[in-house]
Amino acid sequence: MKTASSKKCLQLLLFQAVLLGPAFCGKILVWPTEGSHWLNMNVIIQELIRRGHSFTILVSNATLYIEPRAKATEKFETYYVPFTKDVPETLINGIVDLWLNNRPTVLTFWQFYKELGRLSVGWQEMNKMMCDAVLTNQELMARLQGSGFDLLLSDPVTPCGELLAVKLGIPFVYSLRFSPAFTLERHCGKIPTPPSYTPAALSELTDRMSFGDRVKNFVSYHLQDYVFQSYWGHWDMYYSKALGKPTTLCETMGKAEIWLIRTYWDFEFPRPFLPNFEFVGGLHCQPAKPLPKEMEEFVQSSGEHGVIVFTLGSMVHSLSDEKSNVIAKALSQLPQKVLWRYKGKKPETLGSNTRIYDWIPQNDLLGHPLTKAFITHGGTNGLYEAIYHGIPMVGIPMFADQHDNIAHMVAKGAAVQVDFNTMKTQDLADALNTVIYNSTYKENALKLSKIQHDQPVKPLDRAVFWIEFVMRHKGAKHLRPAAHHLTWYQYHSLDVLAFLFTCTATVVFILFKCCLCCCRRCGRIAKRKKE
Ligand SMILES: *[C@@H]1O[C@H](CO)[C@@H](O)[C@H](O)[C@H]1NC(C)=O
Ligand SMILES: *[C@@H]1O[C@H](CO)[C@@H](O)[C@H](O)[C@H]1NC(C)=O
Repeated sequence: MKTASSKKCLQLLLFQAVLLGPAFCGKILVWPTEGSHWLNMNVIIQELIRRGHSFTILVSNATLYIEPRAKATEKFETYYVPFTKDVPETLINGIVDLWLNNRPTVLTFWQFYKELGRLSVGWQEMNKMMCDAVLTNQELMARLQGSGFDLLLSDPVTPCGELLAVKLGIPFVYSLRFSPAFTLERHCGKIPTPPSYTPAALSELTDRMSFGDRVKNFVSYHLQDYVFQSYWGHWDMYYSKALGKPTTLCETMGKAEIWLIRTYWDFEFPRPFLPNFEFVGGLHCQPAKPLPKEMEEFVQSSGEHGVIVFTLGSMVHSLSDEKSNVIAKALSQLPQKVLWRYKGKKPETLGSNTRIYDWIPQNDLLGHPLTKAFITHGGTNGLYEAIYHGIPMVGIPMFADQHDNIAHMVAKGAAVQVDFNTMKTQDLADALNTVIYNSTYKENALKLSKIQHDQPVKPLDRAVFWIEFVMRHKGAKHLRPAAHHLTWYQYHSLDVLAFLFTCTATVVFILFKCCLCCCRRCGRIAKRKKE
């Protein structure tokens, strides 16, 4: 196995040396995150494998979504970390419920973030256990030390990856959609986010804000910072102990060479960024492949009306009977055919135009010429496939960044939002008719699609380039802003302002005193003259 692998690498090296100049076959360690995070990272991994690099993935043996077992090859080794506690599915359900039952409004704002912070503590505890399981396993650590990794790839919402990289003395690269309040990006990555036009994560605002919106935005940043500071703060002690010197989670995360952010300017509102931040949203998108025969026949049977693709993502398996019937009834009123990815009970009101599937080839369906609209929960992976293929959307956001994502698409004119809690049959039917029959939505979706396609270098190639760059040069320190060496008051120039203010105040005071003195003397002279 090993020799076959090195032989292939050698062949690749020779091939590249002849044709393209020197190449490099690196060894990469991965500290993954569950769910859609993994789906996205796996695309980067598979491309790097194609280019001759090899991977070791550290996964909890209780993982819910990460399934590299079947895919194990000579270039893809999985190490299962024994984990006695179940990955709490209740935690995921708790977070979904929190959002569905307590959407953050002006009044419930505080309560919401408090509760989110509390739930996040459960997530952190689990991560700490996983971290312990690796760091205290001396046999595993010795093996990792001896493996000569060139780089570690991780998602900062699951801490510990950076700690492991520092312990192994290797550079690391992040793949990230966002962290609450952009806390990690702002405080640890030092990316600037002016609150006057950069909407805070989870605020559902756009870049055009009224005075009231700007107040909300400003407060959102600070409130989320406050709540999540204690949440991330738990790790400071842990990191200090593990590294044997006083440090913080943020300081360690700040050592990341490159941050690969899973969005792009078709989706984001223009905002400042740093040279070590690369926006690679849509890197997983591909041209559509042919559909399975039975599915293609169903799609073709829709004729001129076309089809609607519907999924609420991999995290939500079933809805209440009432909800699923409301949805099914709305769909049954449409002339389009509907392909619905759903694992729950079949609703009674399901129309003959709607088919339920356990799984759908979402990208291939969205790229089908007969597809008219996409009903989505608003996860970034799905949104990007719709953007890539220029399909207008109806968003039914449920939790996490989904409300934000849909707010972005609504602001760009490519989507209509429907509220999951209050949704009536007619609301969903109206929303679908709007995006299908009012051509502005399709036009705007196509505009976004053109932006996504027309890039100097494709997002996946950029992601791969920077990972290879970091391996070739053992880092990307030339992109690192000096902001990392400043304290918060130096960063905001508060010490300079205080100094200048003191100087000005002193000068003004002296001038004032002089004037006063002069006046008094003049007064005295005038008085004497009079006498
Ligand atoms: C993971 O490993 C632990 C320890 O060996 C074991 O007790 C547990 O049952 C395993 N869990 C799963 C889901 O395989
Ligand atoms: C189509 O939608 C746009 C944006 O919401 C709206 O301004 C326009 O009036 C709509 N057109 C029709 C014909 O309803």
